[in-house]
Amino acid sequence: GSHCRIASLGVYRPALQVSNHDLSEMMDTSDEWIVKRTGIRVRRLAGPQEPLSRMGAAAAERALTAAGAAVADIDCVIGATMSFTGQTPAMAVRIAERLGIAGPPAFDLSAACAGFPYALETARGLIRAGSARTVLVVAAERMTDIVDPRDRATAVLFADGAGAALVTRSDEPGVGPVVWGSDGSLSRALEQRVEWASFRDGLTDERPYLRMEGPRLFRWVIDEMPKVAGRAVAAAGLTLDQIDAFVPHQANIRMIESMVRSLGLPERVVVAEDLRDQGNTSAASIPLALERLAADGDVKPGAVALLLGFGAGGTYAAQVAQL
Ligand code: ACO
Repeated sequence: GSHCRIASLGVYRPALQVSNHDLSEMMDTSDEWIVKRTGIRVRRLAGPQEPLSRMGAAAAERALTAAGAAVADIDCVIGATMSFTGQTPAMAVRIAERLGIAGPPAFDLSAACAGFPYALETARGLIRAGSARTVLVVAAERMTDIVDPRDRATAVLFADGAGAALVTRSDEPGVGPVVWGSDGSLSRALEQRVEWASFRDGLTDERPYLRMEGPRLFRWVIDEMPKVAGRAVAAAGLTLDQIDAFVPHQANIRMIESMVRSLGLPERVVVAEDLRDQGNTSAASIPLALERLAADGDVKPGAVALLLGFGAGGTYAAQVAQL
């Protein structure tokens, strides 16, 4: 069968940087609390001139340029997002239009913070089945649009941005088998508790914002995700000492440190910590973190990265990708 690889990455980071100090002037929080509990110092937030599809298209254009590819090469566009309030047509369709491509199938996939590895597996499946040769995956979020600015539990965590990957057919294995799943019993831990229709019909005064039980998510991640990551490494026929970079979803530095300890990752493994000055961008966080490692020279072409996404609905997905 045919294989696939990530041929290139591109990102878009919003211009506005909001520090913990800035937030502490708007709500009851502090730089000390946020740094200690999350590791986040600054987050990037999108403004009115940075709609989701524009950020996604900018990231996609950079990925195309990096690969020396043309828009005509793309035969499928997959959008990964949980914050596209436009709903229909899909974000991916709007990104395709901005890029000037008409024709290829384009659709969105909703898997919360596991969106990027879910989309990567979908692209891999399409390529292996012969349905596509070159798939553009765009993970983009404007969490600003679904987070309650007055809710300190979530407002200090989430951020905006976009990351794109051009996934192409290859003769050598590049993206390994996925280990993925979901657990609906975790839904209450992070969900849009009120439905739009209930709000519209005046059945409730509460707005359809994201609500979170942080400690519950935290425990689930540190208990279960190291096992998922370990299984993905084994599924690729590798061992942990063959991993060059660990790129988990960028939610929280304490979670990342705990997973590194549980996995017993070798010292030399580069651990992505893009969240420090970017915040938690949900589906976009893995490509943003991966692109940063590559741009900084922390991972070289050919390096083996372990990707691990997890989020709302207990969605998770892990795979190994050779860069
Ligand atoms: N500033 C100051 N104090 C705060 C803030 C804030 N922003 N938010 C909560 N607090 C208070 C709480 O009210 C609580 O006060 P209390 O003890 O008087 O009741 C206290 O801080 C401790 O709150 P906890 O929620 O128990 O704190 P915890 O140590 O668990 O840290 C955190 C909270 C950082 C949210 C942690 O639970 C966490 O990271 N959870 C995972 C959340 C996450 O990453 N979600 C997204 C992952 S999935 C995805 O990205 C879609």
